[in-house]
Amino acid sequence: MTLAAIARAPRIGPIQLSSPVVVAPMVGVTDVPTRALAHELGAALVCCEMTASEAVVRSTDAAMALLDFPGDVRPAAAQLVGGDATVMAEAARVCVARGAQIVDVNLGCPVPKVVNRGSGAALARDIHATAQVIEAMVRAVPVPVTAKMRLGWDHNTINAPELARALQDAGAAAVSVHGRTRNQKYQGRADWAEIARVKEAVQIPVFGSGDVDDADLAAERVRSGVVDGVVVARGLLGNLWFVHQLVTLLTSGERVADLSFAERIALTRRHVEKLCAHHGDERALRIGRKYVAWAVKGCNGAARLRARVQEMDTRERLDALLDSAVRAGLGPGGWYRPAFTSGEG
Ligand SMILES: Cc1cc2nc3c(=O)[nH]c(=O)nc-3n(C[C@H](O)[C@H](O)[C@H](O)COP(=O)(O)O)c2cc1C
Repeated sequence: MTLAAIARAPRIGPIQLSSPVVVAPMVGVTDVPTRALAHELGAALVCCEMTASEAVVRSTDAAMALLDFPGDVRPAAAQLVGGDATVMAEAARVCVARGAQIVDVNLGCPVPKVVNRGSGAALARDIHATAQVIEAMVRAVPVPVTAKMRLGWDHNTINAPELARALQDAGAAAVSVHGRTRNQKYQGRADWAEIARVKEAVQIPVFGSGDVDDADLAAERVRSGVVDGVVVARGLLGNLWFVHQLVTLLTSGERVADLSFAERIALTRRHVEKLCAHHGDERALRIGRKYVAWAVKGCNGAARLRARVQEMDTRERLDALLDSAVRAGLGPGGWYRPAFTSGEG
């Protein structure tokens, strides 16, 4: 065991985090059971997926299902997307009434249906309008308001340092910066030198996002002060253990070994159990297929197994499938990293 230096955990307003490691909001991923498991594995903060402010204000069933913050997972953040200051402020009140301790604003979503309405990454192009949204939300709720942004719309319009400064002045308690532009979506490597420029521009905590999938590198960025914390996103898909490894490295200096393939499958079973307890078996299996497919990728015969994952309609069939994955063992390709070319942040 090698010991490395311990990093200081940041505060978000009055909330002292237990470590610098937060789990990203991810559409279709960070539901209640997944957040609960990430919390058990040590994540200092978990966030629900982005939720449309208009839908929150209208109390649609879909929005209310996302804004679910069970009391055993604290602190928990809600993330809102929208561009109207009054609606965002009202939606923030709803989030707090439903148990969120932090309300985050999505300023990074690149998808056309969001940016065409002036929200997500499109809102971030207008620093003044974004600051007005934050100001209205800060006035509306007694909890910290934070924002998650990209570097800019494209490489010619990078505005993250100016935007972060304006949001700090508007009362934001922290910002997260995804080190890609809107036009990059999820392609290319995240630019951590640009993230560091945001850190230099503000006094509030800055969390870095983008390719956080190497514990040593992420820990070094925190220890050296490039950022105050890191946001884990695709790095945890199919491998939530990574959260535990990163948290342990940053809080105790200890390196935790990777899970064996059989252990990774055992963790996936625990995940599926939580999904079933929360959603009921039928829905959980529908939702859980992607987690299982991510977890078995890299094992011998993975392509065939992943095709069979799509046919799973009972817990028994799922268990049998996971047993066969363990029997197959990890293939020569080893661990893989999911690649997304689209998404919501
Ligand atoms: C499937 C998926 C869904 C996402 N949903 C959101 C979201 O709801 N809100 C948000 O701010 N970012 C969202 N993001 C962006 C991530 O939070 C993160 O900033 C981005 O993936 C970069 O980190 P990575 O390179 O480590 O994956 C999403 C990303 C993925 C892959």
